[in-house]
Amino acid sequence: MSHSAEPRPMTSRRCGPLKGEALVPGDKSISHRALILGAMAVGETRITGLLEGQDVLDTARAMAAFGAQVTQHGPGDWSVHGVGVGGFRSPEGVIDCGNSGTGVRLIMGAMATTPITATFTGDASLSRRPMARVTDPLAQFGARITTREGGRLPITIEGAQDPVPVAYRTPVASAQIKSAVLLAGLNAPGDTVVIESEPTRDHSERMLTGFGAEIHTETTSDGHRITLTGRPELRPQPVAVPRDPSSAAFPVAAALIVPGSEIRVPGVSRNPTRDGLYVTLLEMGADIAFENTREEGGEPVADLVVRHSLLKGVSVPAARAASMIDEFPILSVIASFAEGTTVMNGVSELRVKESDRIDAMTKGLRANGVEVEDTPDSMTVHGMARVPGGGQAVTHLDHRIAMSFLVLGMATENPVGIDDAGPITTSFPDFVPLMTRLGAELA
Ligand code: S3P
Repeated sequence: MSHSAEPRPMTSRRCGPLKGEALVPGDKSISHRALILGAMAVGETRITGLLEGQDVLDTARAMAAFGAQVTQHGPGDWSVHGVGVGGFRSPEGVIDCGNSGTGVRLIMGAMATTPITATFTGDASLSRRPMARVTDPLAQFGARITTREGGRLPITIEGAQDPVPVAYRTPVASAQIKSAVLLAGLNAPGDTVVIESEPTRDHSERMLTGFGAEIHTETTSDGHRITLTGRPELRPQPVAVPRDPSSAAFPVAAALIVPGSEIRVPGVSRNPTRDGLYVTLLEMGADIAFENTREEGGEPVADLVVRHSLLKGVSVPAARAASMIDEFPILSVIASFAEGTTVMNGVSELRVKESDRIDAMTKGLRANGVEVEDTPDSMTVHGMARVPGGGQAVTHLDHRIAMSFLVLGMATENPVGIDDAGPITTSFPDFVPLMTRLGAELA
């Protein structure tokens, strides 16, 4: 569903110490994949801890449109009765993926090797984002694809009648491209291969293994090579979705920059392909303890204890970018309060997220008195002891930009305003009440 409500401006004021427990929502990436793989297995997949953000609800509705039976039993507790690999039917209406790049790219992959037709659309943000990175490899499987000018949405896909397996080297480090190709490979005979130069989040590979697909990964001189054998019978299985490290990043950041804070963030995924922010924060001198490390739903998780910290600027290497790609906006906020300069390298992909995140953060931080420089693929933030604030940030339908500036305002001298808090519901519907319970002042 497109985000079409009236903009909801919000202001964040400097607050006292944040205290308490932050139960952040389920992982967005894993939630999308659980619904999609559940729809491609025969029988019932039960999902607990599902993120009920708008992005994921849009994917749930899409899976129902393709023929799966998707039922909510209680908060976060869902079941999907799948139709099997190759079992999707042509949806009656247009598939509106709202704000979600992950939703639309993975679903296009999942249907592209089944002989059905579907048309995909999305909101103003999604309609600006590049889709050729996914439609190019899907055409190689034999799908026929019509796009708007520039390879953008709306897109109509006629799934391949006789799909052929594909070997594809991803042109940019992207788990969405990798996952779209692997999901398409499920209904192609033989081996589908994806080669990526930097490893990206591996939730698809982990979950495909759990559902009984034959998939293996090797690191060769060529890069990171994932091979999937097509036409498996996917076995439904229970999926316990861990809490989202990308959502956890917001209360964690707030606790680090608001003096006197100490919070606990239980059950957060510590998957190494998602861990870059936490590695970076430890390098900056953050006081974060990882307690009770364990495995849940096939993913490593830990309880985080975070205390206010005096941080130092660091240089984040380009090779780490993929493992923290969604966390650079909030890192740039944290870096504003660090001693010295923080440089984020190799981050050009930020320019094609829900917004151009380098541009949105650079302009919004400058409006709040922070010295920032950007290049096409880097961002540099000069930290300061007291960040003035007092500015307004434009969020461009981007949930992470909205949450980042609300966190900024919790520790600035003057309040920070954002033009629209509405998009926060895409990934973190309880953000405002949760942060308010910890002590934030948002209105
Ligand atoms: C995601 C992959 C990343 C990330 C997005 C979720 C996924 O995108 O930014 O929020 O679930 O696969 P890219 O793969 O395009 O980098």
